[in-house]
Amino acid sequence: MSARGDRSPAPRWAASTVYQIYPRSFADANGDGFGDLRGILGRVDYLARLGVDVVWLSPIYPSPDADNGYDISDYEGVDPRYGSLADFDELLAALHARGMKLIMDLVVNHTSDEHAWFAASRSSRSDAKRDWYFWRPARPGATPGERGAEPNNWGSFFSGPAWQFDPATGEYYLHVFSRKQPDLNWENADVRAAIHAMMRGWLDRGVDGFRMDVINMISKDAALPDGPTIPGMRYGIGVPHFVGGPRLYEYLAEMRREVFARYDRALLTVGETPLVTVEQARRFCDPEHGGLDMVFSFEHVMADYGASKFDLRPLDLRKLKAIFTRWQEGLADAGWNSLYWDNHDQPRAVSRFGDDGVHRVRSAKLLATALHLLRGTPYVYQGEELGMTNVRFAALGDLRDVESRNFAEEAIAAGADPEAVLAQLRAASRDNARTPMQWDASPNAGFSRGSPWIAVNPNYREINAAAVEADPDSVFHHYRRLVALRRSDPVVALGAYRELLPDDERVFAFTRTRGAEALLVLCNFSGAEALAAVPRARDWAAAAVALSNYAGAPAMADGGFRLRPWEAVALRR
Ligand code: NOJ
Repeated sequence: MSARGDRSPAPRWAASTVYQIYPRSFADANGDGFGDLRGILGRVDYLARLGVDVVWLSPIYPSPDADNGYDISDYEGVDPRYGSLADFDELLAALHARGMKLIMDLVVNHTSDEHAWFAASRSSRSDAKRDWYFWRPARPGATPGERGAEPNNWGSFFSGPAWQFDPATGEYYLHVFSRKQPDLNWENADVRAAIHAMMRGWLDRGVDGFRMDVINMISKDAALPDGPTIPGMRYGIGVPHFVGGPRLYEYLAEMRREVFARYDRALLTVGETPLVTVEQARRFCDPEHGGLDMVFSFEHVMADYGASKFDLRPLDLRKLKAIFTRWQEGLADAGWNSLYWDNHDQPRAVSRFGDDGVHRVRSAKLLATALHLLRGTPYVYQGEELGMTNVRFAALGDLRDVESRNFAEEAIAAGADPEAVLAQLRAASRDNARTPMQWDASPNAGFSRGSPWIAVNPNYREINAAAVEADPDSVFHHYRRLVALRRSDPVVALGAYRELLPDDERVFAFTRTRGAEALLVLCNFSGAEALAAVPRARDWAAAAVALSNYAGAPAMADGGFRLRPWEAVALRR
């Protein structure tokens, strides 16, 4: 929902680019090894130079940090490691003064187990907040606390069962993420009212909206039935019973009434919605249903999954393109796309879909071009604009992420070779995205004068913000141009999308058109020359180069354009 009475939220953010900050890894002003708000304050001019319109802050609330702040113990405060509410107000004012908006991470599927609500809830079966979470007895006939006695068969996203036994009251609580993240029971109207009040508190403070963590999981099938099982897998799949649950749209409609509709200014709402389909996305964005501005879909970042997210395979470009095209076409007349490669949950795209060796710079620019010239609102994750890469973690002990560590522990306990597990995590761990932002070539990449909470990627001497800002031909300046182009050129913001070569294994080619204006985007996703055999190529012979990662337009050849390795070019007519 954008503002009161606005029934067509889609284009509101069409010309905007969002920048995601993962505060603990962005900039550390006080030298404790963790990024903080004053660190961000020191870098707002950097963000202004990049030109982004909106900043999304990953969680800064008090948290015991089981999941790096996605386990919140107080929704209304700022964790002292990040600073104070006064620092927050200063940061918000500094962004607003530069014409940027700020959206907060809203993590309300679950709290921390150290939140006062949960402490009350677990204190006794008769506590007034008992029903704020999902408490259930052991399976009938089973001995509480014993393996297999959990109330249902669901596995958690972070390995192990989705239930934790609490001996004090003899019942289990549900946690679809770590056991330190108990799920809130949205069936309870008091829970919803408390969340609405908290949201209004942040909006009254002046924030400009929310990125809503796993918002499509807040409604669970109240019976919490067993999920389907897969041979060889220890736990059942709970997803059908809690993703897109029965009361989800009712909860979102209520949130719109109780929160967003009370504000006159433009608010940005983006739902994080794992496993969302195009149909559901249209509904999420429909003012009559979800009322969100846009949602994050996941299909494109699952295009290279083998058996699981820890089994990444070489990318089949045709599959990736088909996914983009289905989403572009599916949201052409309703809803709106969020466009992203990187975030704090994904390994670095340049290592995954590009070439982080000799073609790093070129392929990072190609990925940026292919994504930012689609229809939707692009998201840039800190460091992506430098061409930051995955990390060659030396040992499992170098990993910090709860998901990665639990995965390794469970896999090794089940007999996997630790070296093989390390290789999987080098490619797939979320920690690839979480190492400190590389500001310059000084110790710790200029991130901290203390000891960083996770080691800096050793390639910071070559890849850093100071270097890319000084180089007009860098990945940074390419991103800057894309951000500017989206703002200045309505064909980028709003033009209709058409894919040209769906069967080509190496070239992603599409047009964007609006009235008489047209862009042709050609991207060679390979380190070899490729012929882009687009129909009526000659029509583009005199077109101007709007943006390229090479000097000059690609050569015309019989039947198309001859693209150089990792060439990405946008032609304008
Ligand atoms: C999605 C967040 O992006 C991720 O980092 C987190 O672990 C889960 N939700 C649980 O909050």
